[in-house]
Amino acid sequence: MPDLRRIIFDCDPGVDDALALVLALNSGLVEMAGITTVSGNVSVSKTTRNACRLLDYLGLDVPIARGAGRPLKVKPRHASVHGTDGLGDSRLLPADSSRKVEREGATDFIVRTVESGVRTIVATGPLTNIALAFQEDCNVMNRLDELIIMGGAVRAPGNVDSLSEFNFHSDPDAADYVLQSASVPKVLVPLDVTHKVLLTPADLSEIGDSRSGRLVKSIVGRYQKGYADSGLAGSPLHDPLAMGFCIDATFLKLQPMYLRVETSGAYTRGACVPEERPWMHKRANVRVATGVDSRRFLEYFKKTASR
Ligand code: BDR
Ligand code: CA
Repeated sequence: MPDLRRIIFDCDPGVDDALALVLALNSGLVEMAGITTVSGNVSVSKTTRNACRLLDYLGLDVPIARGAGRPLKVKPRHASVHGTDGLGDSRLLPADSSRKVEREGATDFIVRTVESGVRTIVATGPLTNIALAFQEDCNVMNRLDELIIMGGAVRAPGNVDSLSEFNFHSDPDAADYVLQSASVPKVLVPLDVTHKVLLTPADLSEIGDSRSGRLVKSIVGRYQKGYADSGLAGSPLHDPLAMGFCIDATFLKLQPMYLRVETSGAYTRGACVPEERPWMHKRANVRVATGVDSRRFLEYFKKTASR
């Protein structure tokens, strides 16, 4: 039996962030030391409210700290595929929440929680909070054992632009800063692998009728339709796959790379730029997921979401 991992979950819920939360909580293998929110799929007010609504629905008590309301340098942008409220406009969830969030913001919360001994972060939104936490106290942040990031498109097409994935495109400066400056073991889970784990309508109907199962079914509809409109057979389980790696590293095959992120550019903002010229002698700064055991992960997701 693998060890229980204590993590900070930095996210922008977001339908698939919510699915990642369900996966973590139902896995029995992850303990949430805290949830930090960031502007991304929807505004930070909405992502924070959504984290509260999800915990209310699931009846759980996990500290929530509100994070950055805008990227480091560029203007905020949001993703319509998650609906107006960011959680597929589900009627199952409470419309609002009176839950109190932490007084301190996400950056302070992250630094303090790492200092207190939590050594893993799973980040499934734009990397603004993570970059700010490293800028605030890199000595503490460099104690992390692992930073797992959903983001980027390395050798696959982007989903916002030809080469750019949403989280990296939304805050390219934070993504580049974290990849280049955070001297901790990092794992990147890009579109290259997340587009290989598609939750189809048939998969959805196999999910059981537990409280979590009903939540999954009620938030995924619009998201699935959005992806169907762009020609995919199902909705990619982007953020759940990053969480899946945290639970069981054997779901993914990793390749060390030296990666930078384009921070400007008319067509390339947020694009991943691997340095592969051997004579440059660059040491890898991240391990990138290049392969995934899709079938096993999808089965695990359906089983765990049904609990
Ligand atoms: C990423 O962008 C967001 O819309 C999803 O939540 C995921 O984190 C995929 O590109
Ligand atoms: Ca996300």
